[in-house]
Amino acid sequence: MSADNVRRRLRSQDWFDNPDHLDMTALYLERFMNYGTTPEELRAGKPIIGIAQSGSDINPCNRHHLDLAKRIRDGIRDAGGIPIEFPSHPLFENCKRPTAALDRNLAYLGLVEILYGYPLDGVVLTTGCDKTTPSALMAASTVDIPAIVFSGGPMLDGWHDGELVGSGTVIWRSRRKYAAGEITREEFLDAALSSAPSIGHCNTMGTASTMNALAEALGMSLTGCAAIPAAYRERGQMAYRTGRRAVELVLQDIRPSNILTREAFLNAIRVNSAIGGSTNAQPHLMAMAKHAGVELTPEDWQVHGFDIPLLANVQPAGAWLGERFHRAGGVPAIMWELLQAGKIDGHCATVTGKSMAENLENQQSTDREVIKPFDEPLRERAGFLVLKGNLFDFAIMKMSVVSEGFQARYLSEPGREGVFEGRAIVFDGSEDYHARINDPALGIDERSILVIRGAGPLGWPGSAEVVNMQPPDYLLKRGIMSLPTIGDGRQSGTADSPSILNASPESAAGGGLAWIRTGDTVRIDFNQGLCDMLVDEAEISRRKADGIPPVPADGTPWQMIYRETVTQLADGATIRGADKFQKLSKTLPRH
Ligand code: FES
Ligand code: MG
Repeated sequence: MSADNVRRRLRSQDWFDNPDHLDMTALYLERFMNYGTTPEELRAGKPIIGIAQSGSDINPCNRHHLDLAKRIRDGIRDAGGIPIEFPSHPLFENCKRPTAALDRNLAYLGLVEILYGYPLDGVVLTTGCDKTTPSALMAASTVDIPAIVFSGGPMLDGWHDGELVGSGTVIWRSRRKYAAGEITREEFLDAALSSAPSIGHCNTMGTASTMNALAEALGMSLTGCAAIPAAYRERGQMAYRTGRRAVELVLQDIRPSNILTREAFLNAIRVNSAIGGSTNAQPHLMAMAKHAGVELTPEDWQVHGFDIPLLANVQPAGAWLGERFHRAGGVPAIMWELLQAGKIDGHCATVTGKSMAENLENQQSTDREVIKPFDEPLRERAGFLVLKGNLFDFAIMKMSVVSEGFQARYLSEPGREGVFEGRAIVFDGSEDYHARINDPALGIDERSILVIRGAGPLGWPGSAEVVNMQPPDYLLKRGIMSLPTIGDGRQSGTADSPSILNASPESAAGGGLAWIRTGDTVRIDFNQGLCDMLVDEAEISRRKADGIPPVPADGTPWQMIYRETVTQLADGATIRGADKFQKLSKTLPRH
């Protein structure tokens, strides 16, 4: 323990060592004895460190945290703390219906109550699958107790027929091949299942790898933590070090509020561009900033993120997967490039106790195939383009995955560079899309733009990853692999579609998407960041009389509460008003 450790009365002592409430202290202590803990341990003034366990059989991406927690515990014990492990609400991206996004705020609420209401002095947040990272950081911010992120790490690289196959990316590729009649059902399944060869979360730069990278970029995990594959021995070693560090954070009184500043969030936005990160980072970072009490605007993605080049050659924007990314230096090597280029604020504090710049010393990549130098990137201006117009006030487009073929086909007409006009084909939810996409009567061709609504936080409910719609089979067979799409939902972080996403306000909230009709012309001006339906105001007013397109009724009590409280994706789809609860740990809950 370093000399600057502050000896002070710990939060947990109000439970376990409170002379004014001997009866309560007895009650608080006694049941912890029943698995062999002693009163001496709990009353010694040692930091009690929670381990927020996100792994379980129902969240396979994080399940190995059940084993890794043993090494976290060892680290906590060796540093003089006491571990207390507890489960957090499961968030399994691929399996939770109608979408795991519905449960992010539920997991957040649950974790806030645990961190606030139990005798914990600090917490190790075990993360992995997409929403497990933002929900945990949102809660740690609200309560503001010393916290550190421990990522589970990606699966090993997947291989099939001598080719790398990545989580999600193989699904999108295979479903196009299947629709074009190039592979059988069995070949589809075989390729997809090969992408998951070990424990861990998605091995592409999907939302899981992205959010864990951004937790590290924010300064909330130890340097190099995010990219270590789940099955590597370094993962267990990182678990031990993280446990140790959690105790020191309590003794040094380093809290999320010391780390999660606006500068840290802007660093994260820039890192997201450089890694070709998921579009889901936009609502999640926004939500984390809100609960941290940090001002972040939707436009920050354009202003601070858009011009950053793509440096990570990792799927879906690039070629490689998690193992090679880790060996190339992972997140620190990306941040080293950005720091040398003056694109990272190196003064930001981090959980290591050092500044970000200090953490990044000597972290340059050794593998230039996978992590490009800032001056020779895979692609210039790889951030999110922010759009607005009469269809929505805010939406984003991930430029790092828009193929050159697509750009050449649509955005290079002489005299109209960067401007696209197309005929809208409108779907109400994904069932409607699947039922009608191959209907020849819709007349979908190269100049069509696919629109989906009813897929936002209110409409779905929860906001679904359905905007990356593939073209009809007859176009796929002709080699047209993607059409521009627009939606008030999200898209998978592993998708490579030219999609305009996260449109806010959504159709179900009366946004402009509610009034568009199949056959309308949509004009997208990429230079100006504008996206409009070319329909006059009088006609839009007439359509408003038809009312907002209907959405499914609430299916569960939580769906009802979620819809009553949720904000739009532009604002992070947080619980309205929850951000007024800041730094809860400044006060103790009543007995
Ligand atoms: Fe869990 Fe991708 S489905 S990380
Ligand atoms: Mg996803």
